[in-house]
Amino acid sequence: MDHETPKTMGQQHGRRSWAEPWKIKMVEPIKMISREERAEAMKAAGYNTFLLKSEDVYIDLLTDSGTSAMSDRQWAGMLLGDEAYAGSRNFYNLENAIQTYYGYRYIIPTHQGRGAEHLISKVAIQPGQYVPGNMYFTTTRLHQELAGGIFVDVIIDEAHDPAHLHPFKGNVDLNKVQMLIDKHGAQQIAYISLAGTVNMAGGQPVSMENVRALRALCDRYGIRIYLDATRMAENAFFIQEREPGYANKSVAEILKEFCSYTDGAWMSAKKDSLVNIGGWLALNHLDVFEAASNLVVVYEGLHTYGGMAGRDMEALALGIEESVQDDHMRSRIGQVRYLGELLTEWGIPIVQPVGGHAIFLDAKSFYPHLPQDVFPAQTLAAELYMDSGVRSMERGIVSAGRDPETGKHRYPALELTRLTIPRRVYTQSHMDVVAESVKAAYDARDKTRGLKMVYEPKYLRFFQARFEPL
Ligand code: F0G
Repeated sequence: MDHETPKTMGQQHGRRSWAEPWKIKMVEPIKMISREERAEAMKAAGYNTFLLKSEDVYIDLLTDSGTSAMSDRQWAGMLLGDEAYAGSRNFYNLENAIQTYYGYRYIIPTHQGRGAEHLISKVAIQPGQYVPGNMYFTTTRLHQELAGGIFVDVIIDEAHDPAHLHPFKGNVDLNKVQMLIDKHGAQQIAYISLAGTVNMAGGQPVSMENVRALRALCDRYGIRIYLDATRMAENAFFIQEREPGYANKSVAEILKEFCSYTDGAWMSAKKDSLVNIGGWLALNHLDVFEAASNLVVVYEGLHTYGGMAGRDMEALALGIEESVQDDHMRSRIGQVRYLGELLTEWGIPIVQPVGGHAIFLDAKSFYPHLPQDVFPAQTLAAELYMDSGVRSMERGIVSAGRDPETGKHRYPALELTRLTIPRRVYTQSHMDVVAESVKAAYDARDKTRGLKMVYEPKYLRFFQARFEPL
């Protein structure tokens, strides 16, 4: 299979370029407000890009969550919503799509990913148990902690080094899991919290070999593995591209094989699955399913809608099928890589290799003169917005939050600013504008000072914290 991006194929080898496997039927106008207005808007938003008004943003790379463009088929599906309170036809279509493409037995719909995280954490964690995971995710870890669990990072060390070129930087370090079992006993491990790809590590994949070995280890101790499948279809693409023996398997086949090594999964369908809202929990064991299915009616809605409208479930069922098409995934990741290659060519420090859903600027290298206490990645996100109206987000010390035991800041090794690419939304010219804006911020790096936090909410502070320039 050929994995070159549009740029390298067209220009460097004198070959024919490829383009997105879709054409545009409807457009949404965007505009750039003036530099003065952007400075004013950033100040009013407390230097937190989450607090900007969308209308003040030119190119929105805050997140790939719920921001993708649906296809004409999905929009047509929206008109087929069966809005019955119970037993909606669309639920059965969704259930069938998840069983077909992910292979799990029992399905519970939820309003989005964290709804499913809440349920699985409550059902599968006893207070005081450990939850080993391949790097934390913000909402995932919080729900595990709120359920009384103690999260332990068991990702390979290479994942914490932004420049390391390991092809599967999302892999679990099995020795770290073994040590945890030896120290506390298998009954003190709630489950393995496995994510593919790993968002906070830079969208880095897990190999099939790694999940197979993890399965074997867990089988020896009767430990279950639950998968954060949010960007697992993207992970499957990387396996196809990089892992021996998978080049001739489809993304869909790889996805299903990977899931078969796990006992269940939770999903933020707002990412891979090309919808604006939705999520699910899927389980292979009846006892866990029954417990979670009982809780869904307390927190989300009836077990045949879980917080989604019928039409949302229909769009999701169709989106799942579209998300596992090889040509879709190739153009999606190709676009992210195009932006990454431009920045790399210009010597701008980003997490390597380029991951699935975003470019992660390495703010520590970008601003070597700024200590982590003055929030380099948050600062960079603010600078980018003020330069060009491009909205990114912080994935560093602010996102990491405070240790629940000591109340002190956690100091993650990775201090990153994420340029997250929505699926099927922006063109190559938008990527060029973004790259040039990052370059402008890079050229002005010496003049940049940090921020101080002036308002800090208790949970998931990165969403709502406010800052002032130093
Ligand atoms: N797991 C991962 C890996 C995620 O990236 C997210 C959300 C969730 C779970 C929670 O899902 O938002 O539907 O409740 N990530 C978004 C992001 C917010 O911007 O990365 P949710």
